[in-house]
Amino acid sequence: QRFGLRIVDDNLYMEDVDLRTIAAEVGTPVYVYGAAHIEQRYRGLVEALAARPTLICYAVKANSNQAVLRTLARLGAGADIVSGGELERALAAGIPGDKIVFSGVGKQPAEIDAALAAKVRSINLESAEELELVAERAAKLGVRAPVSLRINPDVDPDTHPYLATGLREAKFGIAMEQGLALALRAHEHPALELVGLACHIGSQIVDSAPFLDSLARMRELIDALAERGVKLRQLDLGGGLGIAYEGNDPVLEADRWGRALVDATADLDCELVLEPGRYLVGNAGVLLSRVVMRKQGETKKFVIVDAAMNDLLRPALYEAYHAIVPVELPAPDAALEPVDVVGPICECGDFLARERPIPWPARGELLAVLGAGAYGMAMASTYNTRPLASEVLVSGDRWAVVRPRRRVEELLGDERYPDWLS
Ligand code: LLP
Repeated sequence: QRFGLRIVDDNLYMEDVDLRTIAAEVGTPVYVYGAAHIEQRYRGLVEALAARPTLICYAVKANSNQAVLRTLARLGAGADIVSGGELERALAAGIPGDKIVFSGVGKQPAEIDAALAAKVRSINLESAEELELVAERAAKLGVRAPVSLRINPDVDPDTHPYLATGLREAKFGIAMEQGLALALRAHEHPALELVGLACHIGSQIVDSAPFLDSLARMRELIDALAERGVKLRQLDLGGGLGIAYEGNDPVLEADRWGRALVDATADLDCELVLEPGRYLVGNAGVLLSRVVMRKQGETKKFVIVDAAMNDLLRPALYEAYHAIVPVELPAPDAALEPVDVVGPICECGDFLARERPIPWPARGELLAVLGAGAYGMAMASTYNTRPLASEVLVSGDRWAVVRPRRRVEELLGDERYPDWLS
């Protein structure tokens, strides 16, 4: 249930759709997303923060499928984007410019121009140089650019072990000490409109405390600006809300977290912006894969499946844990054996799970990799000339292919021979 799935007659369903049907009709590997889970998560956050004006700007990078974006757009979500490409995606899905915030350390002139033309809500500046560049582009286009300063609140990693997991991204944000001077510079610049401050402290956070810490740091700056007569329209606290990847993982309780945020910002006279990605879509998705082969190695057992690190990079890149379950549930007394679930790619790092106790599957058996809705397809590649997986969206008893599997011809299609080889 935590993973947006149901069990019907010992078979795994996404909402009211049998995953076996999808796999049989679309083939594997295939990503399957459940709209109900996304909606429930979105509404839960909105409710948790109902007591104060808040805009949820979905972090498009987590899962940028157009159908997922439109699902969120219809619910009223905005978007947090990090490239011109994501801007086009968000607009195409029906998210209006005034609900779009633009993050990222390396925005290029054409991307800034596109964001200004789309009248985005805020361009979140990450450096002094970027401030000048955005001002220059805005002046050239004869507009005032709405900007926020993305501050690196420098929340102490010692007290919050989540930061020690390698997600502290030091290249991001403006150092606290430079914040005031740059904010004043933005405020006074004729081509800029300082609308707010922003921060993002990391990802997969399951505790309210780090959010409150960063809020406290941001408040120092808000107060310092207020003393100088600078009033802000919004405070963007970024994303990072964590989810459960294992059945008994601690989870962020939206209610409690929301209440804590509402309390801590009660006296702040500005709108709150949040940029959750994983929280909204992570457990809305599974990756379906079939067992191609099994192999008894010298010391280990391997289950070789037709999904690989090119489809789901998280285990290889972060040693991330994703639960893997048979779509046809095994007998409750089935013996569990520690196996490595691996893909066909020629890399030792090509695994989906290691030493994982699961029932030894049959060839052709269908497995579901859970918690794959965020940073799954979004980080997929065509390594080993493996066409990208298909994507399916389920809503109740309806389902649709929202992105068909790529064909090998399409991969070859863009490539050409130079004249000396043709
Ligand atoms: N806002 C900003 C400025 C971000 O950099 C990110 C994520 C988010 C929002 C959304 O964070 P979320 O709510 O999804 O945690 N590929 C990694 C996660 C990288 C996150 C990068 N920034 C993974 O697979 O775990």
